[in-house]
Amino acid sequence: MTNPESAKPEKTEFLIRKAIDGDIPQVVALDNAGFPTPWSESTYQKEVNNSKGLFYVALLTDQQSVMAGFILSWAVVDQLHILRVTVKNDLRKMGIGRALVEKTLEEAKTSGLKMALLEVRERNTAAIKLYLSLNFITVGLRRKYYTDTGEDALLLTASLVDLGL
Ligand SMILES: CC(C)(COP(=O)(O)OP(=O)(O)OC[C@H]1O[C@@H](n2cnc3c(N)ncnc32)[C@H](O)[C@@H]1OP(=O)(O)O)[C@@H](O)C(=O)NCCC(=O)NCCS
Repeated sequence: MTNPESAKPEKTEFLIRKAIDGDIPQVVALDNAGFPTPWSESTYQKEVNNSKGLFYVALLTDQQSVMAGFILSWAVVDQLHILRVTVKNDLRKMGIGRALVEKTLEEAKTSGLKMALLEVRERNTAAIKLYLSLNFITVGLRRKYYTDTGEDALLLTASLVDLGL
């Protein structure tokens, strides 16, 4: 019998590039799997051509038809708002989420943005640990921000000026 653990590759190689129209079906599938309040296909479709958007996907290097994750952010004046980041369930904890956030922060800094901000569910330990490890700090609490569960949101920010990536 095949042990699913032994079938897992030891190191997963992936690449990150800008999202294109053809990515949207897989983006929507990942979104639906990763978030309790999914966004529609047309919402994502518009983001591909949004000049104020930073929209990246991660693909497996040796199987580029497989989307491993994506990240979507907006540039609002001099701030980067990270809106969505998710990684395919069976490819988590392999560095893909960190690489997607780092890529976005680097691009935002290069284009002159000064600060990054995001909201995260207070019980989303994995995401909070990821952001704190990238020098985000908690600056506020939005009570009952998530209408589906009534959870509070933590508001996190990071300076892009001091970004050491
Ligand atoms: C949050 C998420 C994107 C992280 O993606 P990932 O590819 O698994 O993350 P990485 O492998 O790059 O891990 C980076 C860091 O995140 C933290 N982390 C990731 N998964 C974790 C877990 N299950 N528990 C605790 N910390 C975790 C660790 O600090 C880790 O660093 P380390 O490996 O040096 O310990 C992923 O869990 C996910 O898609 N979650 C569902 C969608 C979601 O909640 N998005 C965030 C909305 S704000």
